[in-house]
Order: sequence, then structure tokens, then C-alpha cells
Amino acid sequence: MESAEQNKLLTQVGRGTPMGQLMRRYWQPIAAAVEIENNWTRRVRLLGEDLVLFKDRQGRLGLIAEQCPHRRASFAHGIPTENGIRCPYHGWEFSAQGKCLNQPNEPDNCAFRDKVATDAYPVEELGGLLFAYLGPEPRPLLPRFDGFVAKGAIRMMGRAMLPINWLQIMENSMDPIHTEWLHGHHYEFQKEQEGVKVAISAHHEKIDFREFEFGITKHRLLVGQTEDSEDWTIGHPIVFPNMLAVGNGDETSRYYSFQIRVPVDDENTMHLWYNAYIPPRDALVPAHLLAKVHTYDVPFKDEHGHFIVDNVDGQDMMAWISQGTIADRSQENLGSTDKGVAIYRRTLKREIKKMEQGLDPMGIVRDPGRNQQIDLPNETKKHHNSDGFSSFMLRTHAKYSPIAADLVKVFEPGKPASLPEADQLALMAEISQSET
Ligand code: FES
Ligand SMILES: [Fe+2]
Repeated sequence: MESAEQNKLLTQVGRGTPMGQLMRRYWQPIAAAVEIENNWTRRVRLLGEDLVLFKDRQGRLGLIAEQCPHRRASFAHGIPTENGIRCPYHGWEFSAQGKCLNQPNEPDNCAFRDKVATDAYPVEELGGLLFAYLGPEPRPLLPRFDGFVAKGAIRMMGRAMLPINWLQIMENSMDPIHTEWLHGHHYEFQKEQEGVKVAISAHHEKIDFREFEFGITKHRLLVGQTEDSEDWTIGHPIVFPNMLAVGNGDETSRYYSFQIRVPVDDENTMHLWYNAYIPPRDALVPAHLLAKVHTYDVPFKDEHGHFIVDNVDGQDMMAWISQGTIADRSQENLGSTDKGVAIYRRTLKREIKKMEQGLDPMGIVRDPGRNQQIDLPNETKKHHNSDGFSSFMLRTHAKYSPIAADLVKVFEPGKPASLPEADQLALMAEISQSET
């Protein structure tokens, strides 16, 4: 339980709030690079700030405040120039650094031009994603986590704009027990109503959390597992402060899955599923699969306004949204199995304090030597590359991917893209424990 005051501290991300300042110490993804290829501008709302991503005539990217400092027209309708962008209303021109370069109908006046400089933030590309940094200089390096730099990977990214605060989504990743219920018994109940009896839920014997350089790994021991299972010995991490990393396979055929919870503002979150798949060495990979990050939307409600709960990610989104726009933590009662949630909140508060003392918070990378490739701890023996790939595609956000069928062909040549219902149910249990 948190006081109303503490709940605000943990959830508010606007400029000048403690959590907003902490979040601004980390590079945040704003779009796939391919999404600005055929456009000159793209609106971005991040940490409560309305911004416009733009491309100048030389193809360089900039990110500036959406509203023009003259009389507030939007740069989303701007005119690209050689070195920046002009406002559509009266043509004032700004650089990617936010400097006013030109006021066409004004007498030339440097002092006035300097006075109207606007907010501008750096943008960098990694793994086909664009990241922005809204914090103070000197800016840290954009961390080169394994999934972003994996060579020869096929990449795709699902996106859902969720009408909720980012924190309840991250807390879900520190809550292993929910898989047993939300993805287990709740799913069984759905099937029961269709007249199908299934038993897929696996009981948690133990859970554990261990801090490491970039966040916290979570560990589970399910009924029937032994303590040398990778779920218990390695686990998978919450990458501080707003990413979950799940993976599988070894270096010959591996996949990386990053769930990134980007705070749009206090009441909205852009949820990204960024997946990178390294095909088996002998696989035939059509060139178009490697050409770009394939993007798609992940819906959470159907045409009747009902939550879509036939897939693991839909089940998660239903639970998160049902907690309210900003979960009221003054009304909750944490139990012993919520210890991960409590650890995460304590870590957030501790890192805010560190930042306020002038120190770098957790996971900030400034040494280029450390940033060649950052390998995150992850299990290697899950369902993915054995008999479960087709099922993974069908039972998660991936079912909405435009390349789902292509991926099945690459990873399981000869296997149909859909499985008999009985097989799907058998594999569902593995997925429900491994994907969250
Ligand atoms: S409002 Fe932008 S130039 Fe006038
Ligand atoms: Fe989940």
C-alpha cells in the first residue's frame, strides 16, 4: 500500500516531477525508423510533452516541441528545410537543436531569434528503432542491449496505446504469480464457458528477485521443476526502469523480446513488443524479412468493445486496464507474493534519491567499451525454438504481426501456421509461464 502522495511520486512523469526526472535519464523509444521514412514529420507525445519528430532535406532527424514559439502553430504541418523545419504558419525556421534560424518577415534581429529558441531533444537509431533523450546533459549512451544489436535478426514490433499509467504495467512484470491465474485458471474458465475442459495452470512453489547491473531478474520454481532449471537459476530481467526482456534459444537460433512501456503521460502508455529473431544457420530467409522492422498494432478490445483475452498479451492488457487509469495504491493490500512489486517500488524510490544526490541512477551507460553489446540474462531453454514456435505466433501479440506466417516458415519449415486445438492448449501452459 502507498499513500496517495507516494502513489503520485511513483506514477507522475511530467517535467519537474521526481519520477519524470528519473525517466528523463533514460533514452526512450519513440517510433520505428521505418515510420518516418515516407513522412517528413510525426507527432510524438512522451513524458507529458507534445513533440514533433521531423526530417530535414538532408535526411537528418530532429525532435522539437510541437508548438511554434511564435504563435503556437504545430510543426507537425511544417515545411522541411536544408537545416531544419519551418513553421507552416509564418515560416519561422528552427534547427534540430531548437535554434531559430530565420524569421522571414521580421527585420533581421539576432537577439529576438535567440530569445525564441524552442525545446529540442536528441534522437538516435538503434536496431531499427528511434530513441529520444529528454534529460540533462551530458547525455548517457544509448544502451546497446543484445536484442537491438543481434546480427542477422528478423525484427518486428507490435504496439498498443494503453489508456493507463505505465507503473501498473511494470509491476505486472515483477509479479510472476499472475501467470498462474490470469494466463492459467482465467484462461481455463474461458474455455470452460465454451464447453472445453483444460488444465494448463502451473503452480508456483517459489519466486525470487535478484538485482543486477541493469535491473532485476525474476525467478520462479514451478511444481515439477528442479532448482537447476533455468527459470530458477537464470530467470529473465526487468531492465530498469521500464522494460521487460524475455528470450530463448542459444546463439545458433535465438529470439529476443523486449516489452517496453513508454510513458506518454500520467494516464497513457505506449506499449511496444520489440522482437528480434535470429534464424537457424541453414534457414532460408526471404530478403524482405530482413529489410526493416515490421510494425503492427496489437488490439485489446474487439468490435463489441470486449477485451480480447484469447492471447497472453490480451489477458495482460485486460488486467492492467481493469486496475484503473492510475491504480489507486492507497486502497490495495499487498501480500507475501507481491514482494517483487514492493522491491520494484523501493528500487524506484532509491534511484530517485540517488539522482537527486547528483549520481547516475541504475543502468546508465557512459563507457563506450561497456556498450559494444550488453547481454541480458535470459533463459535459453523455453518453448520457442522447439515445438512451440507456431503456437507462440498464434497465442501472443505476434498473431497480429504481418510476418507471423513468414516466421513460422523460417523457423518451422513444413509445419502449418496453425496447430490442432489440443496441441495449442498443451503449449499454452509453457507460453503463459515464459512470456511474462
Ligand atoms: S506560429 Fe509559427 S511562425 Fe507563426
Ligand atoms: Fe502476463
